[in-house]
Amino acid sequence: MIITTASMKGGVAKTTTAIHLAAYLQLQGTTLLIDGDPNRSATRWAERGMEQDGLPFKVVGVNQAARYSRGIEHFVIDTEASAEEEEMKEIVDGCDVLVLPTTPDSLSLDALIQTVELLKKLKADKYCVLLTRIHPPPRREGEEAREFLEQMEFPLFKGKIREAVAFQKAANQGTIVKNVKDQRAKTAWKDYCDIGKEIYGG
Ligand SMILES: Nc1ncnc2c1ncn2[C@@H]1O[C@H](COP(=O)(O)OP(=O)(O)OP(=O)(O)O)[C@@H](O)[C@H]1O
Ligand SMILES: [Mg+2]
Repeated sequence: MIITTASMKGGVAKTTTAIHLAAYLQLQGTTLLIDGDPNRSATRWAERGMEQDGLPFKVVGVNQAARYSRGIEHFVIDTEASAEEEEMKEIVDGCDVLVLPTTPDSLSLDALIQTVELLKKLKADKYCVLLTRIHPPPRREGEEAREFLEQMEFPLFKGKIREAVAFQKAANQGTIVKNVKDQRAKTAWKDYCDIGKEIYGG
């Protein structure tokens, strides 16, 4: 299985999603995370964890990918925020499932609409929108965004990723959210496991 995370807008949780879906897939079979972002956020995340818990899978750059792919069952590819049609064409061709994370604010949703329009133009079919950083009730942005996206008939994961400081701690500590000392760590990890199940089963 090859999962890629992409968006036209920055900061919508592409890297956080790539890291945690790779951790989920690693439970099913050997997984490699390919860091396709020149910012190298996923690579730095992995490096920060070296002395502590660390990530349960290897993170490599695109130029190393061929060599480290031997014997690997699952791949997750993290990409940079980009609106390039040529780039999106390659991204779509290069994966089984394209995950489009979006936060529930109008700037992100506007960028998402543009992305989906481009994907429709490219006749891509295996993409799915993931709502991220959803604040708890009484705030309703998450539900409003879902209603809006359902109206647009965009493919959408049933699950969502809730806002949790534990994700920022995980990034700082170079580990996955499950290993962080935080009262919300367990539910945060479950949010990504639920998405992993929607994609892969297990
Ligand atoms: N569910 C969440 N709850 C709280 N904070 C989150 C959540 N998901 C991501 N974040 C935080 O949001 C910020 C952006 O996340 P991330 O780096 O994963 O986004 P990105 O789309 O990869 O960004 P870029 O476009 O810069 O690559 C980070 O500080 C991250 O820790
Ligand atoms: Mg990123």
